[in-house]
Amino acid sequence: MKRLLLPSLMAALMAVVAVAHANEPAKAAYKGDPAKGQAIGSTVCAACHNADGNSTVAANPKLAGQNADYLYKQMANFKAVDGKQPERVNAIMNGMIAPYTDEQMRDLAAYFSVQTQKGEVAKNRATIEVGQKLYRAGNMAKGLPACAACHGPAGAGMPAQYPRIGGQFAEYIEAQLKGFRDESRANDPNKMMRMIAVKMTDPEIKAVSDYVAGLR
Ligand code: HEC
Ligand code: HEC
Repeated sequence: MKRLLLPSLMAALMAVVAVAHANEPAKAAYKGDPAKGQAIGSTVCAACHNADGNSTVAANPKLAGQNADYLYKQMANFKAVDGKQPERVNAIMNGMIAPYTDEQMRDLAAYFSVQTQKGEVAKNRATIEVGQKLYRAGNMAKGLPACAACHGPAGAGMPAQYPRIGGQFAEYIEAQLKGFRDESRANDPNKMMRMIAVKMTDPEIKAVSDYVAGLR
């Protein structure tokens, strides 16, 4: 009798434990550790984005102060999975991000997100008004929504999905809008940016990009 009791008690106990686990909420995603991210971020990535994420070359976007979930998503999108073409294609970044694990990408995102952005300035007085109007109000007649609706009135973005664009290099903003327009960049959820960029002319893209560079 005694020999039979112990296993059945154990089984009953394990069933209780299993039910308790099933009722636990899903484990929250790892948030990343800025201190761990710094080791890679301020050395490897610094070559192009600067140690604090304030790149000084317009082709290399500023990462400082960008929202962490957006940074992580871009790194994941740059990374090729199972030999397939990455969701975001860029020869440099596809190579740069390849060695890092999911956890390291979270650490890097955490590190750059807590840095303070040193923003650019608008340079073209003649197009500021057009750029500001597009940014704040869009263009109803063309079915263009206001950029501010998603990227915020000061361009700071909104966690988790909408990136900070205020203070970014105008040249980089322009290149991304053109990429969304010709779909060479196609990693935006629900085609949110592609549907907008496809309705924009070159002068509109230039004007809004210059305005955004000076936005705080
Ligand atoms: C040799 C230069 C170079 C190095 C080194 C480099 N990057 Fe980049 N990075 C770029 C360029 C160029 C782009 C813009 C790609 C594009 O135009 O789509 C970019 C874009 C990014 C973006 C997207 C930003 C955005 O606003 O969408 C992230 C995130 C990023 N890099 C992270 C990193 C991290 C993390 C490292 C270090 C592991 C790193 N990069 C190293 C050149 C570099
Ligand atoms: C409906 C919401 C929405 C509106 C409106 C919107 N955006 Fe976006 N935008 C997004 C999302 C979402 C992303 C991130 C895509 C991704 O995950 O790669 C994005 C990304 C971008 C990027 C790339 C940022 C980077 O660091 O690479 C730029 C530039 C941009 N938007 C500019 C604009 C401009 C300019 C306007 C107005 C003409 C605008 N957006 C309007 C949702 C929006």
